[in-house]
Amino acid sequence: MNKLTDKFRRVHDYLRISLTDKCNLQCLYCIPSQNQIEKFQHKNILTYEELTRLIHIFVKYFSVNKIRFTGGEPLVRKNILSFFEQVHEIKKSNHFEIGITTNGTLLEDKIESLHSFGMNRLNISLDSLQRNKFIAIAGKDLFDTTLRSINKALKFDFDKVKLNAVIIKNINDDELIHFIDQFHNTNLNIRFIEYMPFSGNGWDDAKFISWGEMKSIIETKYHLKEIESDGNVAKDFLVDGTNLKVSFISSISNHFCYSCNRLRITSSGKIKNCLFAQSEEINLKSMLADYSFGDELIAEMISNSLQNKWFKHPSTDELAKLNHNIMMSIGG
Ligand code: 5AD
Repeated sequence: MNKLTDKFRRVHDYLRISLTDKCNLQCLYCIPSQNQIEKFQHKNILTYEELTRLIHIFVKYFSVNKIRFTGGEPLVRKNILSFFEQVHEIKKSNHFEIGITTNGTLLEDKIESLHSFGMNRLNISLDSLQRNKFIAIAGKDLFDTTLRSINKALKFDFDKVKLNAVIIKNINDDELIHFIDQFHNTNLNIRFIEYMPFSGNGWDDAKFISWGEMKSIIETKYHLKEIESDGNVAKDFLVDGTNLKVSFISSISNHFCYSCNRLRITSSGKIKNCLFAQSEEINLKSMLADYSFGDELIAEMISNSLQNKWFKHPSTDELAKLNHNIMMSIGG
């Protein structure tokens, strides 16, 4: 078993696989404003068979601790539960955790199955606790079901249930305290995420609020006690006197590239070695579909492709100018 190491000695043991570039919401910070992005055709998306082969290769050749499934919205994909059932089979004989990042709108009736298929972590996005604002941000009135999904998920013993809220100045920064009021007697982990620039997503400096500013606002009402972080991207706190964990993802004000352990695969099978990488690396789809390419050869290509990873992503100004970085196709 090899470690997937890049030329800066960063070990990559966290795989993020996008299962589709389609999403049933149109969150304003995520999709390009022109909304002209072309979706992948179904034939260009990794099939479930190719995906399970890919996972087998990763767990056989590399020490992977965690695999997270993202989108688009992963739960829009047909027969998704049978895919997770297959992943569960692989998981039974290998040691890794699985998680899913979802907008929660199609989750409510799948929670039992996901739990029984060994899902460890659920990250659910919810950017507002006000229905009208939810609709303004996400473009659809699916607020109630999302909130119900979060509350239902908290009743199961997942290792972690996290709520992701992207905070944008003058849009939802007035709700920081409200989020804590709402969940302060649960063991949810609320993660307030700094707004990041992606192609055409309307990012500008005036809409940006840093994690430090968010924390100060919360501290006008709650005492946040810093705790040791369980990963490397978030600053973690406990709301004093509760089990509610509040985290800040400071991708912009305080980047964490030096400790990056992530490798991403797009739904079309391309390796993306940084969320902001401009050139995608090799496309694995044709190789995964063709069993004359052995697993070992594919593993070698994966490992080689990591050697082009840059040390650090460019500044926000430069990122905002990039043309081909669309969150919906990468999956966060
Ligand atoms: N800035 C910060 N976070 C974002 N996400 C999507 N777009 C952005 C952005 N521009 C978040 C989603 C989800 C995760 C996958 O990434 O809200 O929680």
